[in-house]
Amino acid sequence: MAINLKGKSFLTISDFSREELEEIIAQGEKLKLDHLSGKDEPLLKGKSIGVIFEKPSTRTRISFAVGIFQLGAQALVLNSSNMQLKRGETVADTARVLSRYLHAVVARVYSHKTLEELRDNGTIPVINALSDFTHPCQIMGDLLTIKEKKLRLESLKLAYLGDGNNVCHSLMFGGTKFGMHVAVATPEGYEPDKKVIELSNKFAKESGGSLTVTHNPLEAAKDADIIYTDVWASMGEEAEHDKRVKVMKPYQINDTIVSKANSNVIVMHCLPAHRGEEITDSVIDGPHSVVWDQAENRLHIQKAILSLLV
Ligand code: CP
Ligand code: NVA
Repeated sequence: MAINLKGKSFLTISDFSREELEEIIAQGEKLKLDHLSGKDEPLLKGKSIGVIFEKPSTRTRISFAVGIFQLGAQALVLNSSNMQLKRGETVADTARVLSRYLHAVVARVYSHKTLEELRDNGTIPVINALSDFTHPCQIMGDLLTIKEKKLRLESLKLAYLGDGNNVCHSLMFGGTKFGMHVAVATPEGYEPDKKVIELSNKFAKESGGSLTVTHNPLEAAKDADIIYTDVWASMGEEAEHDKRVKVMKPYQINDTIVSKANSNVIVMHCLPAHRGEEITDSVIDGPHSVVWDQAENRLHIQKAILSLLV
């Protein structure tokens, strides 16, 4: 049966079947080729997409705005401080109203619950542009990048080192959905969410992949095809920065860690990078790094997500 994603929200990769995720990646590959050959199609001609950012953003904000334009739609930036939300109108009522004007909402929020409230009270797709729980658009772009570099996803070893955060959660979902061997190494007390571990184990069982959660960065990096990291203090955790830098130091992606991986390992980082903390200059600027391709693929995959869901 043909896959139809119209009207669906994109809050977390775990809500989607492998086949649906494959469809999104295939559409991303197609739209990238179209774009590179100067043949963008206005698949969302005449539509209006609301874009809400409660937190700063460079890549997500710009790639969504550009992508929406390339699809022939308009992006309306909704600044919550200029809306009645600021004066106490509820998220639920806002969702009901937005649904009468817009065709979708893209939102970066502090609390994942805000996205669920938008989705559950409105009638238009809600796209997660990062929450405290997950960052699914990031990881869909990353899966496209891995496929481009390694020509497959199945059975690759993906090591994530650092904080068990939103990016780590989506990576665990995405990796285990596609039969990858995901190894996550974090300091004690910074492990991924238990529910995410449980669900990812279930996905790994279904796909023939595996999940290892450890405190040993060398064990995770050993023979890896992909090494991935993210900032040690996410947005909203700035006050803990100094404490985290001390605890996470052994999880830094440096030349020693890279030397434990396969010789053709690719190194990934969702960016922004804190150079000298979670990743060294020598690695992010070195021959294994694919971080700029990752950033570019956000554009193509988000266009794919919008064109299939809206
Ligand atoms: N990786 C990512 O989402 O970056 P921004 O915070 O700049 O959007
Ligand atoms: N974990 C980071 C990702 C930034 C794209 C954060 O939430 O700040």
